[in-house]
Amino acid sequence: MLDPYKIREDFPILKRKINNYPIIYFDNAATSQKPKQVIEAIKNFYENHNANVHRAVHTLSQEASELYEEAHEEAARFINAKGMEEIIFVRGTTEAINLVAYSWGCHNLTKDDEVIVSLMEHHSNIVPWELLSRVRGFNVVYVNVKKNGKLDYADFENKISKKTKIVCVSHVSNMSGVINDVKRIAKVAHEYNALTLVDGAQSVPHLPVDVNDLDIDFLTFSGHKMLGPTGIGVLYGKREILESMEPFQGGGEMIREVSFNATKKRCSIAWNILPWKFEAGTPNVCGGIGLMEAIKYLKRIGMENVKAHEEILTKYAIQKMAECKKVEIYGPKDTSVKCGIIPFGVEGLSSHDVALFLDNYGIMVRSGFHCAQPLHEIFGLKSSARISFYVYNIREEIDRFIEVLKEIEQI
Ligand code: ALA
Repeated sequence: MLDPYKIREDFPILKRKINNYPIIYFDNAATSQKPKQVIEAIKNFYENHNANVHRAVHTLSQEASELYEEAHEEAARFINAKGMEEIIFVRGTTEAINLVAYSWGCHNLTKDDEVIVSLMEHHSNIVPWELLSRVRGFNVVYVNVKKNGKLDYADFENKISKKTKIVCVSHVSNMSGVINDVKRIAKVAHEYNALTLVDGAQSVPHLPVDVNDLDIDFLTFSGHKMLGPTGIGVLYGKREILESMEPFQGGGEMIREVSFNATKKRCSIAWNILPWKFEAGTPNVCGGIGLMEAIKYLKRIGMENVKAHEEILTKYAIQKMAECKKVEIYGPKDTSVKCGIIPFGVEGLSSHDVALFLDNYGIMVRSGFHCAQPLHEIFGLKSSARISFYVYNIREEIDRFIEVLKEIEQI
């Protein structure tokens, strides 16, 4: 098991106080805090190795390029991809999904096709497909979520057809924490020759994820939700699919050759090899190095331990929240089907009121609809408050949270 008390020592921000109360950070699904190892790696890069990558023969550029490539390799090993060719660094999950929509979707989807999306998706796995459908004319088909918050697999199996070209689904819901059986979904999708895109923003930081075992075609995740910096994330894609795709953005780095043909008065262009074909412009080198350090940190803890720790906290929190008469937890309470995310409401109060009250006591939770409005509609809600855990959270923080929740109930 991991030792959260020891882990906490690595997180400088947890020493901060707000209104004289120690910080209790329960907004990890929005972004995680950063350990000193990640902060130090970023500082060390800028102090000792900073240069542009793949553009110069001098020592600093070579060092920066090596570190940047090593970061891709580290990310590949973390999710059991075949190698760095399958790892594209992007700004985050949102950019990764947009990359697939525009680079793959623009060239492979036409008006008779269908894209399947679930109703528990974050807006970033809905809006790019809706936008593209307006240009390409295909249909976006939505899979229902049951009232208990679980994906309706029967509805999925009813809706998939030969028209389906890609199935886009989150591994873990950012609102309810429900874990989807993406292996089962990919298997069915492949029977119909459809691809699968899995939004791993809330799974990769919290569970062991093995793309080979799941047999999914695309996986997206964000560095900042897994102890790394903002502005860096990953699109994993099966090599043969990435090879067959057109680039996303044009510019430097993504080309091998651009040459002007005087007769045709056009430039002929040859793409760079993977993964650089999809990384136009100067990349977020330092972000990649920060992400590599974050992955190393998580690997030292062990992803099975991360999962087990969060399961214990979630079980404990659900049990304690049940003691609060005016508090309602939304979605399933069974920790075997969900991750460490708990959406809830307090009778008579808006989610923002609840979050502001908790903030007075240094407790950070998210409120609103968490970029998942369709799922809120299924639960009959306008918004919810949400707590979400990570490796540095402890039981005592939950006890304190419950004390303040009980005070809120008196309002
Ligand atoms: N997607 C992030 C969340 O769920 C920002 O809070």
